[in-house]
Amino acid sequence: MRYSGVLIGYPRSVLIANGGMMGHVGRMRGWPVTIMEPALLEAPIGLRPVRSRDATTWRDARVRNADWLRRWEPTNPETPLYRSTISPYLSMARTMRREARQGLALPWVVTYGGQFAGQLTVGSIVWGSARSAQVGYWIDEAYAGRNVTPTALAMALDHCFFVVGLHRVEASIRPENAASRRVVEKLGFREEGLRRRYLHIDGAWRDHLCYALTVEDVSGGLLPRWRNELSARRAGAS
Ligand SMILES: CC(C)(COP(=O)(O)OP(=O)(O)OC[C@H]1O[C@@H](n2cnc3c(N)ncnc32)[C@H](O)[C@@H]1OP(=O)(O)O)[C@@H](O)C(=O)NCCC(=O)NCCS
Repeated sequence: MRYSGVLIGYPRSVLIANGGMMGHVGRMRGWPVTIMEPALLEAPIGLRPVRSRDATTWRDARVRNADWLRRWEPTNPETPLYRSTISPYLSMARTMRREARQGLALPWVVTYGGQFAGQLTVGSIVWGSARSAQVGYWIDEAYAGRNVTPTALAMALDHCFFVVGLHRVEASIRPENAASRRVVEKLGFREEGLRRRYLHIDGAWRDHLCYALTVEDVSGGLLPRWRNELSARRAGAS
């Protein structure tokens, strides 16, 4: 895979392409891919494809963070959100990998300091004249408040806009979810309105605010913009 032209403005980013999918007929450009940002936060942050062998770590993190996630994570109204066995996680990993092969999702594990820290999935991809997607994310409470998610989101969206070829990415967030709203606000997402009873969460159908960015909003790249924003925040704090 060649990234020439795409990485202008990314002097400290390292991108490692696994697989050379670009340009192959019937496959999504830019997947699978691992993206590393070694120097922006206190520890290196990475995005890598979900693997079946993540199932145990993933299950342990979800069980450990059950209270942290319950109010915000979408549920299927007919099945419980947290399982103590491995098989549902193996099955979810297989489904995610299949959707990625079909060009419908980019399911990443977020790593921080080389450890499994959470997940970020760009899903519900619609091609044709929409080229749009929905992004979802969660982080282990142990890593909260360190700008891991906004950094991971900036890395993911630049990849989606400038390599994969998406035009619009949306985030749907419960109005009560102040932490998640801060993530998208810090990155300059536009708030576009309220979707009534949009997703099933914590036992009921919940309203969600729709936030969005299109490629025109981030012409110089979202990560370079976020890097400048972080520098300004740090300078203001010192
Ligand atoms: C939303 C979430 C992904 C944010 O991740 P993050 O990596 O902590 O993001 P940030 O570091 O940018 O922190 C965002 C806000 O959380 C709040 N925060 C900071 N430290 C925190 C902590 N230790 N615990 C909880 N919230 C904290 C702050 O308001 C912060 O905003 P600020 O930077 O303007 O002060 C994370 O809180 C999470 O996983 N929550 C549960 C699942 C969820 O809500 N998923 C999203 C569904 S739409």
